[in-house]
Amino acid sequence: QQTPASYYFTEKKAAETRIQPRQKFSHKGTFGHALLVAGSFGKMGAAVLSGKACLRSGAGLLTMHVPACGYEIMQISLPEAMTTVDKHEKINTQLPELDAYSAVGIGPGIGKEQPTVELVEKLLDTIGVPLLIDADALNILSENRQLLDKLPAKTILTPHPKEFQRLAGDSSNEFERLEAGRQFAIRHQVIICLKGANTAVILSNGDVHFNSTGNAGMATGGTGDVLSGIITSLLAQKYPAEDAAILGVYEHGLAGDRAAARRGQSALIASDVVEYLGW
Ligand code: APR
Ligand code: MG
Repeated sequence: QQTPASYYFTEKKAAETRIQPRQKFSHKGTFGHALLVAGSFGKMGAAVLSGKACLRSGAGLLTMHVPACGYEIMQISLPEAMTTVDKHEKINTQLPELDAYSAVGIGPGIGKEQPTVELVEKLLDTIGVPLLIDADALNILSENRQLLDKLPAKTILTPHPKEFQRLAGDSSNEFERLEAGRQFAIRHQVIICLKGANTAVILSNGDVHFNSTGNAGMATGGTGDVLSGIITSLLAQKYPAEDAAILGVYEHGLAGDRAAARRGQSALIASDVVEYLGW
């Protein structure tokens, strides 16, 4: 069943009108406190990348919640962030106290162990601030479908094509996939960033904003984790969820384009995208 939609193409001007300039008398409290639940043994890099991208995207404060094995890694590689450690050595199992945070991002590198599934469920049951869900946290939703009904309105989901397929089923072509994304977004009242070249940001009313930035150099492990950090940062700064998704995807691609212009697409790695963030 088709629902009428509007389609947009996010170029420079459309992105820039969504930027909230920083006011002279602002302080770090003005820009929110982001919480990223990320990492597991062997995948702490995902946590580092999303955390760095979050800091580079303007959040006032950042706390990383990571498994115990990640404590030194975070403190050394992200001195600007605070770290809370899980009681579990290798995976995230505990939900930190949420009161202090203005937005939460979950998923990069977290894995799908049962205690992590329970953490995701508890998060969905208790969260009262904007939420971003990525990577294995999306796969957890796909494998525990009763959780889909708990998604708070305007939650931002950032699936790559495989993650989207697990969430919404098979599509035989790009048009069908986009329509499946629209139906999913409308039904669950969420925002979906269908990642790829020209990432499609699908709003909860079914409108679609195609992104204009980015390049094939970004087809490399870790760039998705960078996007999670950027969008969580914008949510923490109280950007409306639609703006956080559209602007975050645009900024991510823009940084990737700057990085590719400097060093070429083949040499590009996710850390380079972080280095070139900024308006
Ligand atoms: N053109 C423009 N942008 C691209 C292109 C392209 N050809 N290819 C990829 N990108 C962008 C996507 O739009 C997305 O923002 O790079 C990012 C890739 O994100 P993911 O596919 O999520 O990759 P990433 O998460 O970094 O991969 C690491 O984590 O999510 C898991 O299953 C994933 O194993 C993978 C791992
Ligand atoms: Mg990913």
